[in-house]
Amino acid sequence: MVEHTATLGRPSGVRIVAIIGACGGAGSTTVAAHLASALVEQNKPVLGFDFCPTNVLRLHFGAALAEQPGFVTSLGSARPWQDACYTSASGVRFLPFGALPDDMALEYANAWMQASPRWFAEALASLDLAPDTMIICDCPLLPAALRSQALAVADLVIVVSSPDPLALASATHLARQLHDDGDAAGRICTILLNRFEAARRLDRDIQLLLQRQQGHLASPVIIHRDESLREALAHKQTVFDYAPATQAAHEFAALATWVIARTGQRMATT
Ligand SMILES: Nc1ncnc2c1ncn2[C@@H]1O[C@H](COP(=O)(O)OP(=O)(O)OP(=O)(O)O)[C@@H](O)[C@H]1O
Ligand SMILES: [Mg+2]
Repeated sequence: MVEHTATLGRPSGVRIVAIIGACGGAGSTTVAAHLASALVEQNKPVLGFDFCPTNVLRLHFGAALAEQPGFVTSLGSARPWQDACYTSASGVRFLPFGALPDDMALEYANAWMQASPRWFAEALASLDLAPDTMIICDCPLLPAALRSQALAVADLVIVVSSPDPLALASATHLARQLHDDGDAAGRICTILLNRFEAARRLDRDIQLLLQRQQGHLASPVIIHRDESLREALAHKQTVFDYAPATQAAHEFAALATWVIARTGQRMATT
């Protein structure tokens, strides 16, 4: 995996957070949507970017299922990709991936991204971003060309894992690779346990294992299993609108506070 941090095209003060699941269904889109919303709640300018061909990040922000446009579907067309940017009712600016008609279109988009590995880094320079904007990217594990666009410039990578042995093994492998690759450039990588249930002994054991064996990679915040997250998505909202008094809302607020502090420290040392 050759995905090095670089700052070319980065407006000053802008921080980039990439969220990736080590296994399918780990909860990376849920984390991306709620981290973006939690940062807006804390008065940070936010821009969400969906790099996943499933194109579902937008559903957390109230977009209609039938809506097609996105930045990838604009590439190669006359319409500027920036025009695909929406602002949700709760103030999150975001760029959907876009709905591709078939596998061939996805292969074309993948090849395009492979041929333009610095597209995202340069694209950021073309946006009029406030200096302390937080860019939140939902990244797919595959195709690698899409994932790499965000990982190449990320200040912080959050690897989302469910608290089970296989998921943690994959998350640790991925996080170590990203950590070692990014170490020289100062990229931070962390593993975030999601859907944690304290009543389950294996969940507690997995958390302990992560802290003991990979303490430097473990996120200080964990996200518990919370039905309000599924219900909020069914209403095309985040819990900050749907159920702001829930444990999930408090935990994502804590995650946002930690992300601000951690990426701020990184900027102060680079
Ligand atoms: N902490 C949680 N508690 C309860 N439900 C959750 C939690 N995290 C995620 N979910 C639910 O799990 C489902 C899958 O989550 P999500 O779409 O975020 O996973 P993903 O990692 O992005 O999946 P994919 O690999 O397909 O991109 C969603 O219905 C979401 O609401
Ligand atoms: Mg997803």
